[in-house]
Amino acid sequence: MTEPDTTADGPRPPVRGTASAVAHPNVALVKYWGKRNPTLNIPATGSISATLGGFASRTRVTFFEEAGPDRIQLNGQEADSGTGLRICRFLDLVRREAGFAGAAEVVSDNDFPTAAGLASSASGFAALALASCRALRLDPSPGELSILARRGSGSAARSLHGGFVELKVGSRADGLDTVAVQLAPEAHWDLRVVVAITREEPKEISTTEGMVQTADTSPYYPAWVSSHEPDLGQARQAILARDIEALGQVAECSTLKLHGAILAARPGVIYWNGATVEVLTAIRQLRRKGLPVFFTVDAGPQVKVFCLPEVVAQVERVVAAIPGVRRVLVSGMGGAAQGSP
Ligand code: DP6
Repeated sequence: MTEPDTTADGPRPPVRGTASAVAHPNVALVKYWGKRNPTLNIPATGSISATLGGFASRTRVTFFEEAGPDRIQLNGQEADSGTGLRICRFLDLVRREAGFAGAAEVVSDNDFPTAAGLASSASGFAALALASCRALRLDPSPGELSILARRGSGSAARSLHGGFVELKVGSRADGLDTVAVQLAPEAHWDLRVVVAITREEPKEISTTEGMVQTADTSPYYPAWVSSHEPDLGQARQAILARDIEALGQVAECSTLKLHGAILAARPGVIYWNGATVEVLTAIRQLRRKGLPVFFTVDAGPQVKVFCLPEVVAQVERVVAAIPGVRRVLVSGMGGAAQGSP
């Protein structure tokens, strides 16, 4: 494996290939949490998400003819060692596929705040998978690209597609049928997402760590896995029927079940703060008043509120006025990841 380089500044060796890609983050409506194979990063369950067009990761990958340390720059700064290593390992998968051993340079920027809880690993690894394959003139099928992105981050496979996306759980031990497919394009249903940021600092326990802790110690984890299939069915149906009430029911249930399982781990992980709960309560109040709106929360304290376009301004106002909400971002549905030579 090629280690990331944190020092080199010298002249550039000859370039083998370079390419860029843009991908959008996604928010899971039926969550992924837990792996059936950590080495191949195969999730224990399927998941369904919506791709958000309002935000993007832009990534340029350059491969050099000569071997050497990789250089990884994220949001204008040299990547920390953990993230750098994760990206180098990912690039090794691409290099192996291409039968190539040269060093790489990755420059990636997100146009959304890391604190937004929008899983920059999803859009980041989707863009990286696409750009690195193009840079080495690999031409993977959509399924192969999905498997590659999933090796980087499970949720990244979903960010390759626009609109509403399912990452299939699959049944093969090698994960070759654990691929993301589009359920409906972004134009199918104009949903809006209001992101309530309730904490600007990074979370203390990473997604990957939290998953391991939950799977190893939470008595609710087996129930989380075994109750997933009906949730996926209900969400698929609700999306196809554009039924926001039904989608809200299953999405809120998936969120609360997920956090129930995480809270019951040993030690339990508390990703929420007081403002998180205030937002959830306010959303339920809005729904009781008849507004087409529901919430979802990932492994952090931010709340993503889905609603129909006609109420987005009202939802934004209500959420922004809740004490402890630092900032509010708004997005619509987004399209597929795009590469450019
Ligand atoms: C709570 O895809 O970030 O956002 O595969 O370990 O990189 P790794 O995990 P990641 O997990 C996402 C977890 C989640 C739910 C979801 O997006 O489905």
